[in-house]
Amino acid sequence: MSKPGFYVTTPIYYANAPLHVGSAFEIVGIDALARYRRLCGEDVFFLTGLDEHGEKNQRAAEARGITPKQHVDEMAAGFLDFCRRLEVSADDVIRTTEPRHKRVVEIFWRKVRERGDIYLGEYSGSYCSRCESYVREAELKEGHCPACGDATRNLSEPAYFFRLSKYQEALKTLFVEHPEFAQPAFRRAEMLQIIESGLEDVCVSRSSIHWGIPVPDAPGHVIYVWFDALVNYVSALGYQGDDGRFQRYWPASLHVVGKDILRWHTILWPAMLMSAGLPLPRKVFGHGFIYVRGAKMSKSLGNVVDPREIAEKYGADALRYFLLRETPYENDGSYSEDNLLERYNADLADQLGNLVFRTLSMLDRYFGGVIPDPESEPRGALAEAAASLFRDVDGCMAELQFSRALERTWEFVRRANQYVEERKPWSQAKDPAQRAALAATLYHLAEATRILSLLIEPTMPASALAIRQQLGIAEESRTLAEALTWGGLKPGTKIRRGQPLFPKKET
Ligand code: MSP
Repeated sequence: MSKPGFYVTTPIYYANAPLHVGSAFEIVGIDALARYRRLCGEDVFFLTGLDEHGEKNQRAAEARGITPKQHVDEMAAGFLDFCRRLEVSADDVIRTTEPRHKRVVEIFWRKVRERGDIYLGEYSGSYCSRCESYVREAELKEGHCPACGDATRNLSEPAYFFRLSKYQEALKTLFVEHPEFAQPAFRRAEMLQIIESGLEDVCVSRSSIHWGIPVPDAPGHVIYVWFDALVNYVSALGYQGDDGRFQRYWPASLHVVGKDILRWHTILWPAMLMSAGLPLPRKVFGHGFIYVRGAKMSKSLGNVVDPREIAEKYGADALRYFLLRETPYENDGSYSEDNLLERYNADLADQLGNLVFRTLSMLDRYFGGVIPDPESEPRGALAEAAASLFRDVDGCMAELQFSRALERTWEFVRRANQYVEERKPWSQAKDPAQRAALAATLYHLAEATRILSLLIEPTMPASALAIRQQLGIAEESRTLAEALTWGGLKPGTKIRRGQPLFPKKET
């Protein structure tokens, strides 16, 4: 039986600092995918959220002289503001300090414990606070964490362990039988190598910190932040509750995470689910990182670009377009405002914006602002050019190739601008004998802009809406495949020309 819903998630963000352009790249990609699937008529549930426990958050609060709860509440308000300003259309935002989450983490812990997969041991070794992670002696780089380079410290405490080693073979089978489970393929290979090199049990509790969910029946211990955080994907669905969300959406269709945390999601998380007797997510995708002038951008390194400021300056749509167009999702990329400005002026102002603006201006000038009838040429060069567009874009979206989807869409934008040059509506307008041809030219241009408004909607929702408003058409209630059929625009529709969508910016 197939599952009815499409459930897609972002990681939950550490609440210790505001999100940067790297996290924007991640969340905007997933948002575009969720919007696309909704347009296709699917029952989408898009989850994001905040990872509010653990040492990082406790430390950040201490540094500010406030309680961890005050700190994460403030951060959560900032996160909601971020989502609003970047047009992130999440269906739910889970916070790990919420009772609905804590309830499920406890249930989950008990299930895994009943399976015999949690035992009390003693942890002693090196610990990296920035990564919230124990570091194996063999991995240490002169006493420093191999991932972030921070100095580690020695920690020794009685702790609970999860029997990850028990799931080694089952994980290997998962990877072999379901090659689509971990993506892209080159990252899947890295994960498989980790599994094959041997898995050790994982320490899943802490007694040195207090800001966490208490281990059931073990005073003084809190659940390790990763064990707590991963459970968000089921707690947000109200696991073992009665609202039906869990039945409708689990297993997740897709977890999208950064390459640095793919390991937790393709190794620890499936093992935890196997232990708890729950179905596994269908796919985990590890995207690349955004760097600034060659350096890793991260909240902890302090070289952060605030996406809210950029969205304020250029519009959220322009930032979203830039992030998804510039860097293929699975690759690493770099952020620079100069590049953004260049793409803004070239792709948005000169190409898309200009196409929309001149089409609407000519409709006003030559047809009194009313969409003409293309009877003499019901189909034409643009209909031809659009024929394989949807199939191509759909293929790209299925593979999370947002950049290629946009590239393909912009080929069509260029084709439409070229069509204006070929047809020379200004010359057609001078010759009364060419009135029908002029009507066809402008109908097809208007139809091209309608089609484009639909295809850019996942990436640029506000601009898509503005284009349709200017074309004078109501919101589409049809599925994308139907709405993209050439000829959907009704002759006789009165347009409402507005301001240019992307006024050119000074370089
Ligand atoms: N809280 C954990 C995730 C728990 S999920 C059960 C965490 N949080 S994080 O805030 O540090 O990172 C959140 C996401 O942002 C991760 O997927 C991470 O890869 C991503 N990014 C952090 N820096 C990034 C870039 N510079 N570029 C792209 N994504 C980046 O890890």
